[in-house]
Amino acid sequence: MRRLYPVAPAPQALHQPEGHRPHGPAAAPGPAAPTQGGYGADDSGAGMELPGWGVPAPLAPPAETGIPPEAGTPREELGAPEALDTLDGLAAAYSYPVHLLPAPDRPWLRANMVSSLDGAAHHEAHSAPLSSDADMRLFGVLRGLADAILVGAQTVRQEGYRPAKAREAFAERRAAAGQAPAPAIAVVSASLNLDFDAPLFTEPATPTILITGAGAPRPAMERARAAGAVLLVAGTGQRVDLAEAVRHLGALGHRRLLTEGGPHLLGQLVAADLLDELCLTVSPTLTAGRADRITVARSALTLPHRMRLLSLLEEDGFLFSRYVRAAAPAPRDG
Ligand SMILES: NC(=O)c1ccc[n+]([C@@H]2O[C@H](COP(=O)([O-])OP(=O)(O)OC[C@H]3O[C@@H](n4cnc5c(N)ncnc54)[C@H](OP(=O)(O)O)[C@@H]3O)[C@@H](O)[C@H]2O)c1
Repeated sequence: MRRLYPVAPAPQALHQPEGHRPHGPAAAPGPAAPTQGGYGADDSGAGMELPGWGVPAPLAPPAETGIPPEAGTPREELGAPEALDTLDGLAAAYSYPVHLLPAPDRPWLRANMVSSLDGAAHHEAHSAPLSSDADMRLFGVLRGLADAILVGAQTVRQEGYRPAKAREAFAERRAAAGQAPAPAIAVVSASLNLDFDAPLFTEPATPTILITGAGAPRPAMERARAAGAVLLVAGTGQRVDLAEAVRHLGALGHRRLLTEGGPHLLGQLVAADLLDELCLTVSPTLTAGRADRITVARSALTLPHRMRLLSLLEEDGFLFSRYVRAAAPAPRDG
């Protein structure tokens, strides 16, 4: 993958006194001038900043974002820009800023979605026709970084969800971060109409979590428990209160959350102002038709939530964007 944004700052903008860390607080004050041509103009990587948190320019000032420039993975841990072609390099570029969160049970919620050029979130009920090798690579990396993956029951049914794998490539990183070898899949469902004999429940590396409302059907709850699922009740009716669900996951120690949708779940998460970050793949495809876009909700927000672009990568015409909230997230515990 190659990086299209942030554009590399001019070499003089990177000039710092000896011993000064380029991503440290003193590097923050103002945007540095972009070089002519950006990353593509010089793929040697010489004199370039690196993707991820802590790029001094052209990001907005820290006060506006709540994410100080020193928040990310230290520059030297990111490796060269070419490392974006390795799982490790991508993992470093997409590390979670959970240490910034105000409370231990306040997780960071990231979404990973793919969309066609004309806004379709699926083609004939599947996302695979919109995806690519690079998209799947990033999909795997984002899973490899997550504590738990929040997903709507319809996506589980439609895409035949299996448990997340414990992958060798992420073993060391996960152990160092105190994470289980594989992220837990956390399914949101009111009906609990799920196949409890499927590998998602019978063969998970980390027990599957089922999140439902207090009014969910009792027999299905019992079946879920008998199948080894961790049952979380969030909300007094049959519907799940998603803010409560996110808090419960945080209380279980799942602070790096990834949601993989689908659009109905993501629409509610956005409407409830629970989403901190969106990793959006724009697939160079057109689909026409009436497929959902990446969010579906009963009504639009009163005011659109403004997001801020953190990075943009490209491979084979696919664009991999990473956006975070433009404003600092408010503490959600209480
Ligand atoms: N483009 C992408 O990146 C992407 C990602 C994921 C999925 N997709 C596609 O999207 C489609 C599926 O997505 P979808 O939007 O139709 O469904 P979804 O969001 O995956 O799941 C909806 C289901 O989740 C449960 N649910 C959601 N919110 C709930 C709440 N507050 N309380 C209780 N249960 C809740 C309900 O399950 P119950 O019915 O069990 O009660 C509901 O029917 C598939 O075609 C898939 O291929 C695309």
